[in-house]
Amino acid sequence: MSATDGHRRPARAQRVLCVGDVVGEEAARWLAGRVPQLRADHGLDWVVVNAENCAVTGPNPMDGFGMTVEVVDELLDAGVDAITGGNHSWDGPDVDKILAYPQVVRPLNLEEDRGQGLLALTGRDTTLTVINLLSPTAELPGMAAPMPRPLWPSWQDIVASHDLPGAVVIDLHGESPWEKASFAAAIDGQVAGVLGTHTHDPTLRGHILPAGTGYVTELGMTGRLGHTGGGFDPMHFVAKLRGEDHTTLPAYTLAEGPLALGAVVLDIDPTGSTTAITRIS
Ligand SMILES: [Fe+2]
Ligand SMILES: [Fe+2]
Repeated sequence: MSATDGHRRPARAQRVLCVGDVVGEEAARWLAGRVPQLRADHGLDWVVVNAENCAVTGPNPMDGFGMTVEVVDELLDAGVDAITGGNHSWDGPDVDKILAYPQVVRPLNLEEDRGQGLLALTGRDTTLTVINLLSPTAELPGMAAPMPRPLWPSWQDIVASHDLPGAVVIDLHGESPWEKASFAAAIDGQVAGVLGTHTHDPTLRGHILPAGTGYVTELGMTGRLGHTGGGFDPMHFVAKLRGEDHTTLPAYTLAEGPLALGAVVLDIDPTGSTTAITRIS
């Protein structure tokens, strides 16, 4: 069956926790410590975490928010099933090792020999395919990530060239709410979920589109809220906005304040349609 035939078919209903950009080691450890309880409380089959910012990997805010082996191992040891990324999937000295993990998914829609952009999770009498896509809107000049291809032709190629077993969820890493919503509507019925990531501040509503695709514009980051909700002190971003040389500033810092979880739970029926999308905080 190809994706154009409609929903994938998991063997039974399944419940999936999707977590947005984890910011910093402390937040990753906080999340890791809660995964077993979240799994029990919500009857989760699968836990998918965007961890593109789970470690500080360099001094520059535009190239130093990637992953480290140590933090990825902690998340996986805690029971996370798949780790997705985005424009920061290429940050830091551990990139080659991280992209080699079978549980780590980097954006699929670009030229990259290392790693994988698609992962099929099997077990517990069900199957979940996890795809990571990176919008060109989320890739800034000078960043390490290869430039992604546009979303629509990329999706058509993915459908034509990949088997997509079970239910399918897409981590759509992009800047534009309208683009994320348009993409979700364009592939409604072909996947169980389109989960927006990258902009860090969560959007309130989860949606179930007419043909059964669950959609949220932004899962929200997982980390300390600070003043603007992004998980980082905005000093460097403010300087860039003003046209100032932000590289002369002190090293960036993570935000302070209470820890927040940006996440939703998807209830997916045996046909691969989402029947409920519930924000977890
Ligand atoms: Fe991020
Ligand atoms: Fe990002």
